[in-house]
Amino acid sequence: MVRFDPSGPLRGSLRPPPDKSISHRAALIGAMAQGPTIIEGYLDSADTRSTLAAVAALGASVDGASEARIGQRISITGVGLRGAADADIDVGNAGTLLRLLPGWLAGQPGGGWTIDGDDSIRRRPVDRIAEPLRLMGASLSCRDQRLPPLRIEGAALAGIEYELPVASAQVKSCLLLAGLLAEGETRIVEPAPSRDHSERMLAAAGAEVGREGEVVSIRPAPALEPGEIRVPGDFSAAAFFIVAATIVVGSDLVLTGVGLNPTRTGLLETLARMGASVEVEDAELGGGEPSGTLRVSAADLRGTEVGGAEIPLAIDELPLVALAACFAEGETTIRDAGELRRKESDRIATVCEALTALGADVEPSEDGLAVRGGGGLRGGAISSHGDHRIAMMGAVAGLASRDGVEIEGMDAAAVSYPGFEADVAALAGGARTG
Ligand code: S3P
Repeated sequence: MVRFDPSGPLRGSLRPPPDKSISHRAALIGAMAQGPTIIEGYLDSADTRSTLAAVAALGASVDGASEARIGQRISITGVGLRGAADADIDVGNAGTLLRLLPGWLAGQPGGGWTIDGDDSIRRRPVDRIAEPLRLMGASLSCRDQRLPPLRIEGAALAGIEYELPVASAQVKSCLLLAGLLAEGETRIVEPAPSRDHSERMLAAAGAEVGREGEVVSIRPAPALEPGEIRVPGDFSAAAFFIVAATIVVGSDLVLTGVGLNPTRTGLLETLARMGASVEVEDAELGGGEPSGTLRVSAADLRGTEVGGAEIPLAIDELPLVALAACFAEGETTIRDAGELRRKESDRIATVCEALTALGADVEPSEDGLAVRGGGGLRGGAISSHGDHRIAMMGAVAGLASRDGVEIEGMDAAAVSYPGFEADVAALAGGARTG
């Protein structure tokens, strides 16, 4: 059990860790390239270490990263688009690796790979990628037609047009990688925009990626040349402190180097409607990925409604919207977010369980939840259910609670943010007590 006591105002400045989504993509696209790719600021976390281990097992060489430490600059020398060695890959807890990697492997005839992971990974559906990949000509099998382990036999692929049943950047990215090795054009129709890091990085590496309205397209590439990739700070990691500084009375916090790709920052629109005070300063919009500084001050909040096209733009921050809603006057509803049930835990269930245990008035629905806010949180004990984002949401709840919060399974935070507890302690003046 780790305990987070009620905190005084959060003050000072923090640079969040590098972006997890972008780090995964940088390692994979580096491995698909022929020459060396320099990655500046690769995230050192359990998930992104799984991706480095995977690309090494496939034959890429990784320099600048050891068991002890991942350096500020690492270099990956890739195997080329069709040079992946046969291997059994353990993705650990990394859903993004589970969904993206098969897109690359499926198009390499003659190769064979098995992909598996931890208990949580074994509950995460892969039929969402297996079905469209099969339509492209891929040969894949999985447990009960939908779960890992996943077995891939490489095959020749052909481009298709595919309508995504749900807005998923992971499925879109998987098909973009497969499209690089397929014959003809691959077209992906998105029901709503989802994060576009893959499109940006592939275009920068020389691939022919296009977008017309809701259709993202890609053509086969002879080779990828990413050159150098700079990873900005993770907006989803910064989000814990954005919400903490909003709900802990008297806070005034500066967050620097935060990735501000508009397909990731839906939380900012939601918080603005709720009355939060978040200012964007020094935004650098050029280059591959925008980034900038955020200044967040505590504010009185009101309830709001979140749904539709806003959901994919804030998918990983919805637990934090629910937490903020406990401190907002009136009701907040989240709808159209059934995908939350398929994350590292069933996040509709785990968010409602945690907030209820801390004294909130919260009601789950099939595709979201409703919070009647205004009373803040009393505090108490919760379980992370092995989910990094639930663990860190619980910690933020503790800082803003009346009695503090004890968390079972706080170690899950290391999946995306190993320095989280130290950063909380630095900003909250040693809030953690045990
Ligand atoms: C991710 C996409 C999202 C997100 C996940 C990372 C990515 O998943 O929840 O944490 O890096 O592409 P879906 O695209 O499946 O919604």
